Order: sequence, then C-alpha cells, then structure tokens
Amino acid sequence: MNLEVLRAKLALELSPPRFEHSLRVMAFAQKLARHYQVREEPVAIAALLHDVAREKDGQQLLSLAQTYGLSIDPIEKKAPILLHGKVGAEILRREWAVTDPSILEAVDVHVTGAPQMGLISELTLIADFAEPSRSFYGAKIARELAFIHRTTALQYIFTQKIRYILDAGCLLHPLTIEARNHLLLQGSSEENGKDKIFP
Ligand SMILES: [Fe+2]
Ligand SMILES: [Fe+2]
Repeated sequence: MNLEVLRAKLALELSPPRFEHSLRVMAFAQKLARHYQVREEPVAIAALLHDVAREKDGQQLLSLAQTYGLSIDPIEKKAPILLHGKVGAEILRREWAVTDPSILEAVDVHVTGAPQMGLISELTLIADFAEPSRSFYGAKIARELAFIHRTTALQYIFTQKIRYILDAGCLLHPLTIEARNHLLLQGSSEENGKDKIFP
C-alpha cells in the first residue's frame, strides 16, 4: 500500500485531532529522514501509523493483546494504554499488510522506547515527542536537538518522559529506563568514559 492509501485508511480509523497529530508526526519524521539521509518512505509510514491503536480503550487493548498472543507484563496489565504500540504493530501486520519489520518495530516501541532501537524507531519516537504542536518546553528543546544530535535528542526525550511519569505518579515501564541507560552507556563508551555533560 502506498502512503496515500494508508493515509486515507487511517483517516477512517482515528478522530480528526489524532489523525492531524499523525500527519504532523509524519511530516516531522520526513524532515528528520532527509536530515539524517534515511530512506523517507518507511519512516513516513511508521510515523503516520504509529498511533493506529491509540483510540482503543484499555479493555480492548488487553483483549486484542490476548487474542494475538502478545506478552502482557504486570505494568501493561495495570496501564493497558501502554499496549497501544504493541497492539498497533500487530494490527498493521495482520490487517494492513505491513510487513517491513523496521516499521512494525517503530510502531511497537514508540510508547516506551527500547534499548537498541532501529533508526526508523528512533526517528518516529523523536517526531512523536517533538512534532510542532507540542507546546511544552521539553518539546521545544527536543525539536532543536533533533537536528543537531539524534542520540542526545533521544536521551533528552527519555529523561523528560521519565520525569513526567514520576511527577504524575504513574507506573514507569522498565523499557523506558533501559532505553535511556542504553543511550547513556553507548555515549560514555563513544566518549572514552568521559562524563556526559548533557542532560
Ligand atoms: Fe502513541
Ligand atoms: Fe502519537
């Protein structure tokens, strides 16, 4: 399916505000793809479709995850909205004929992040956090960092997400911590063990 067909199909799935968000994430991810010289089409598809399951309620997400035989950890059971990435990827694979594993991975991990994400996952996650209608301060910083240093932008985003989740008193998924630690460990080995100055 080409991008236009997917876009028309998605418009039938999501409310107008969520669809508009998806279009903004796609446009931002396309800019990032051009900046980092990555093939644009798979990035655009992943970014467009990342929230395909976001408007299902918690009960629907849990029962779809069960039906599809996906693993559900205790945190996802308690906060099933976290499943919208994993379930979304499975819906795309089963019902939308999306087969590219890097696109499916990007949709899967966009909620929590994960260590060792592929480039398409990284760009989708950044674009979801930093798309231009996000008006909070952290999103503004992330929009700048995204075009300066991708790994630093991701570290910053995970730090912001973790802070927000802790401040809100919500459950924090361990994958988000693992994703951030992975980037910090990678950064310190790249810099021969020197302390990171940011964040
Ligand atoms: Fe999402
Ligand atoms: Fe999103």
